[in-house]
Amino acid sequence: MSRLATSFCGIALRNPVIAASGTLGYGLEFAKQVDLDSLGGLVVKGLSREPIEGNPAPRVYETAAGMINSIGLQNVGVRAFVAEKLPALAKLRTAVFANIFGYRTEDYVEVARVLEDHEGLAGYELNVSCPNTKHGGIYFSSDPMLLSEVVSAVKRVVRRPLMVKLSPNVAAIEPLARAAEESGADALSLVNTFVALAIDPHTRRPRLGNGFGGLSGPAIRPIALRMVYEAAQAVKIPVIGLGGIASGADAAEFMIAGASAVEVGTANFWDPQSPLRIARELDEFLKRENVARAADLTGTLRFHED
Ligand SMILES: Cc1cc2nc3c(=O)[nH]c(=O)nc-3n(C[C@H](O)[C@H](O)[C@H](O)COP(=O)(O)O)c2cc1C
Repeated sequence: MSRLATSFCGIALRNPVIAASGTLGYGLEFAKQVDLDSLGGLVVKGLSREPIEGNPAPRVYETAAGMINSIGLQNVGVRAFVAEKLPALAKLRTAVFANIFGYRTEDYVEVARVLEDHEGLAGYELNVSCPNTKHGGIYFSSDPMLLSEVVSAVKRVVRRPLMVKLSPNVAAIEPLARAAEESGADALSLVNTFVALAIDPHTRRPRLGNGFGGLSGPAIRPIALRMVYEAAQAVKIPVIGLGGIASGADAAEFMIAGASAVEVGTANFWDPQSPLRIARELDEFLKRENVARAADLTGTLRFHED
C-alpha cells in the first residue's frame, strides 16, 4: 500500500488530496487536462433543488494572494446532475462527493433524497454557508440550532457518509463543530470562504456584480489552519481541512493540525492539476520525513517542547 493511501468514514482515498467544490466544475469538464482517476477525491460544485443561473458579472476578482468570488452557486440543479453528469462520474475510480446547498432545510433534504436514488457517489458534503430564508436570512453555518436542524434532517434520509462544511465567518468554530457532530455529521470539512469586499476606488463601486464575495486562496491559509486545529480538538469525527492549500507542505500542515485529508480549491484556477501535484509533493515530504503513512501526520501538532 502506498504512503498516501488513506480513508475516512470508510471511504478509501488513493491519496488525501481532494478537489474542492466549485473549483473544478463537475470534474468532467477537466477530463482532458486532469487525470481524474488519480485524484484523491473530487467534490462537485454545489447542487440545489432547482437550477440556478448565478450572480451578475463580474464574478471573480483577484486579490493579494487570493481571490474574491461571488458566483451565486450557479448549477444545473440536482435532477439534471443525476441525468447528465453522474453516469460519467460514477465510472471514475476516485471518490466523488456531491456538495449540497439550499435555503430551507427541506431544500437540502430534497437534494439528498434525489441523490440517494443513484449510484456513483462516495458521500455528501453539506454547504451550510447559505442564508436560511425561513429564519430571516440567518446563516445555517452561524447558528448551532439551525445547523443541527439541517444536519439531522439530511442525516435521516441518507445512507452515505455525511460531511458538513463549516463557514469560517463565526467568532468561535467549536460550538458549530460540536453541533454538527451531535446532529449526526460523519465528518466535517472547513473552511468555506471568508465574506469579503473589493472596491474600485475610481467608480466607488464594489468590484463584484453582487457586492460582497468570498475570499479564498493562500491569503486565508493561516486562519483556516487555526480553525481546522480548533475544530479537530472539539470533535471526535474526522476533519477535512482546506483554505489556501497550494503545496504538499501546506497539505502536511493541515494534517498536522488535525485533518484526516485536505481539499484544494483556488489553486485549481491557476493550475487544474494542482491536487495531483500537491499529492506528489506530500508523498515526497513523507518520504523525506520518514513518515510511513500520510495518516500518521494527523493531529501531531506539538505546541510545547517535550
Ligand atoms: C469560484 C469558487 C466557487 C466555489 N463554489 C463552492 C460551492 O459550490 N460549494 C462550496 O461548498 N464551496 C464552494 N467554494 C469554496 C471552496 O470549495 C473552498 O471552501 C474555499 O475556496 C477555500 O479553499 P481554497 O482557498 O483552497 O479555495 C467555491 C470557491 C470558489 C473560489
